[in-house]
Amino acid sequence: MHDDGRYDDPRGSASDHVSRETSYPGWSPGGSSGTSGAGPSADGVTPGSEAPEPTPVRRSAEAVSRPANAPADGRSDGTRRNATASARFEPAVPQQPTPDAVRDAAPHPPVAGAVEPYADVSVDPSFVPRETAEDDDPPLAMEAMRAVQILNPSGEVTMPRPERTRVMCVANQKGGVGKTTTTVNLAVALALHGNRVLVIDLDPQGNASTGLNVPHHTGVPDVYDCLINSLPLEEVAQTVEGIPNLWCVPATIDLAGAEIELVSVVARESRLARAINAYPGHFDYVFIDCPPSLGLLTVNALVAAEEVLIPIQCEYYALEGLNQLINNINLVRQHLNPKLEVSTILLTMYDRRTRLADAVEQDVRNHFGDKVLRAVIPRNVRVSEAPSYGQSVMTYDPGSRGATSYFEAAQEIADRGVKEPVGRNA
Ligand SMILES: Nc1ncnc2c1ncn2[C@@H]1O[C@H](COP(=O)(O)OP(=O)(O)OP(=O)(O)O)[C@@H](O)[C@H]1O
Ligand SMILES: [Mg+2]
Repeated sequence: MHDDGRYDDPRGSASDHVSRETSYPGWSPGGSSGTSGAGPSADGVTPGSEAPEPTPVRRSAEAVSRPANAPADGRSDGTRRNATASARFEPAVPQQPTPDAVRDAAPHPPVAGAVEPYADVSVDPSFVPRETAEDDDPPLAMEAMRAVQILNPSGEVTMPRPERTRVMCVANQKGGVGKTTTTVNLAVALALHGNRVLVIDLDPQGNASTGLNVPHHTGVPDVYDCLINSLPLEEVAQTVEGIPNLWCVPATIDLAGAEIELVSVVARESRLARAINAYPGHFDYVFIDCPPSLGLLTVNALVAAEEVLIPIQCEYYALEGLNQLINNINLVRQHLNPKLEVSTILLTMYDRRTRLADAVEQDVRNHFGDKVLRAVIPRNVRVSEAPSYGQSVMTYDPGSRGATSYFEAAQEIADRGVKEPVGRNA
């Protein structure tokens, strides 16, 4: 390790990386496709890469006493079933984000007896902290201000609404790159700022349903019913509690069989498109969270969408396999959906302590140009904690860097939708 606050990458120096990045097999003209679905560990966290937390975790007393994975409201999935009935896509009821979340975002006084993050090492004069409080989280006053802006309790701050529905397919066949996290947080950010948003969980893992705290146990009507049994979206969509104007079509384990069952179904590639097109003008945004594969489920998402949003993790293998995804997108455009385009690239899990992250960012920006959002999502522990409380980071810790970055990304997407003729349905 050097004293400049960056970690050495075990694979070599920064200059090594640059030369290696340019020779990704996935990017060579006519090169073979990379590996698929062979992403990093499930949570994408490299041991030792997470910085020590400079401030105690801020969460409500309720959240602290609640076991991980417990529903935020303490109700069983069964009682939430009724949410489906109220999910008819009716005009939004003016509803504000929970006041608890706003209160929690305010600076807290120091907890008596709390251990200072660097207390143990401060006696060691040679210790140089890798991250300062300022680096990891904004100063408290700024943080509280950002939290209010993000939760938008007054409803004053709005993001521009597109003229027509923008259907965005969030896809990358590599696993664990942040597809679900991106879907959930962008959807919440846009919904908190005056947009009507539908999230379609198209991954049998059901992570987006979990992240939005929407019941998705066996027996709950889900996206499988839309695809295979032609159930209208309206009958399977559920309202997302605490977030006005946000709906979610959940995925249950039934969806795992859909890839095979779809093979023998008429118009198997356009089942989802048909379901979405039955509701023209109901939503400003439809986000489709894809599974980490390029099978029929992802093809259905690509046929239903006009825009593809590709989250790219700022890691060494980030670009491998992207060629395969781009080829599939091109095939779908040629044969099934001429309006499809890659409109947005989002860099996720950026770790500014590594030169590797810089190198990957440069590579991606060089290749995709202004499709890459200026906002970059940092690796942030609040982002990974939020789903275990059935929340997005926007509501779990709205002052955190993770929330701020997703808010900025959402703002950029909304602005682009107004300025550029992308993503508008005919
Ligand atoms: N910015 C971030 N900082 C820290 N952890 C993150 C961040 N983004 C995502 N994670 C964590 O990384 C893991 C993978 O994220 P996520 O589930 O969103 O990826 P995915 O691409 O949807 O995965 P899959 O391919 O399995 O569907 C999760 O545990 C998530 O909490
Ligand atoms: Mg996912």
